[in-house]
Amino acid sequence: MKIAVTGGAGFIGSAFVRHWVKNHPQDQLINIDKLTYAGNLENLKEVEKNQNYKFLKADIADTQAMLKALDKVDTLINFAAESHVDRSITDPNPFIETNIKGTAVLLEAARENKVKKIVHFSTDEVFGALSLDSKKKFNATTAHNPRSPYAASKAAAEDIARAYANTYDLPLIILNVSNNYGPFHFPEKLIPLAITNAMEDKEIPVYGDGLSVREWTHVEDTALATEVAIAKGVIGETYLIGTEEELPNIQVLKKILKILNKPESLLKTVKDRLGHDRRYALDSSKARKELGWSQKYDFDKGLAMTVEWFKNNTDWWKRVKSGSYQDYYKQQYEVSQE
Ligand code: NAD
Ligand code: DAU
Repeated sequence: MKIAVTGGAGFIGSAFVRHWVKNHPQDQLINIDKLTYAGNLENLKEVEKNQNYKFLKADIADTQAMLKALDKVDTLINFAAESHVDRSITDPNPFIETNIKGTAVLLEAARENKVKKIVHFSTDEVFGALSLDSKKKFNATTAHNPRSPYAASKAAAEDIARAYANTYDLPLIILNVSNNYGPFHFPEKLIPLAITNAMEDKEIPVYGDGLSVREWTHVEDTALATEVAIAKGVIGETYLIGTEEELPNIQVLKKILKILNKPESLLKTVKDRLGHDRRYALDSSKARKELGWSQKYDFDKGLAMTVEWFKNNTDWWKRVKSGSYQDYYKQQYEVSQE
C-alpha cells in the first residue's frame, strides 16, 4: 500500500509516521509537510533512513504539488494544519489558508487521483464549548458551533470534506480528537510549556481561573486510533477519540509540578484567552465499540512518561524554544525552513 501523510513533521503526524513506518515495513509512506514553525524533521530521526519512508516539502494548498504527490496513493491521512488557538486569535489568516483552502486543494487532488481512503484529522473544538455544570458530551451527531478562528477553520475544513464525500463519493473517515500530549509536543501548548518552564524554574501562565476542562489523550494512543481507523473505520463515518477523563487545567499543572518536585508558586495567573472555551468532553464509545480502540495510558501514567521524555530530551526542546532547530535543518537535512 502507498500511504500519504500530510503534516507528518508536526506533533501528532510525526507520532503516527514513526509508528507506521516501523510497524508496516511493506508500505511506502510519503510525508508531505510545508515545514512551518511547527514542523520539525528532528521528530522523525528514528525513521528518516528507512527504505519505506520519503519526505516531500510541499504546501497542501499547492494544487500542482498535491496532484503530483498523491499519484498512486491508496490512503491519505490529513494532519496538516495550523493548530494553535492562541496564534489563530493573533492572526487568523494562515488558518484560513491552510486549514480551509489547503484542505480543499488536497481533497480535490485526492479525488483526481482516486485515493481509496482518506482520514481527515479534526478536533473536538468544532463542537464549541460545554459548561462546567453540565453532563453533556460531544458525539458524532453534535452540530458544529466553533468559537475561535482555529475551531472555525477546522469546522469549515470538515464541512468541505463531508460535502466532497456526499457529492463525489470521496471515501472519507473523520476523526474528532481531544487534546493530545506526549513526546515532541511543541512547547507553546499548555503541557510542554509547563514542563519546560518548570524545569527552568520559570513561571507558568495560567489563563483566567485555571478551571477550564480538557480531555488529554496520549499521542501514541492517537497514533493507534488512526491505525485502527485505517484498518476498520467505515467510509462515511465520524469517530470521536478521547479518554473520557476530564481534567481542569490547574489540576494538570499541579500534577506536573508534583512530578518535577517544583513549587506551586511557579503558577502565575494571567489574562484569560479571548473567547476561551470552558469545557470539552467527548463521547468516544463509538470508536471503542466499532474500532475496538481504547487508550493504553491513563493520564497519570502518560504524564509521568511525558515528563521523563522532556527530562531526557532537553536538547530537543531547548532548540525548539530558542528557534535554533530551524538552523539545524539547513545543516542536517539541507532543506530550508520557512
Ligand atoms: P502541529 O501544529 O504540531 O503540526 C502541524 C504540521 O502541519 C506541521 O508539521 C506543519 O509544518 C504542517 N503544516 C502546516 N501547514 C501546512 C501546509 N499548508 N502544508 C503542509 N504542511 C503544513 O499540529 P498537531 O498538534 O500535530 O495536530 C495535527 C492535526 O490534528 C491538526 O489537523 C490539528 O488540527 C488536529 N488536532 C490536534 C490536537 C492536539 O491536541 N494537538 C487535537 C485534536 C486535533
Ligand atoms: O481540543 C483539541 C485541541 O487541543 C486541538 O484541536 C488544538 O490543536 C490543540 O492546540 C489543543 O487546543 P487547546 O487550546 O485546548 O490547547 P492549549 O494547550 O493551547 O491549551 C490548553 C488549555 O490550557 C486551554 O484551556 C488554555 C490553557 N492555557 C494554555 C496555555 C498555552 C493556559 O492556561 N496557559 C497557557 O500558557
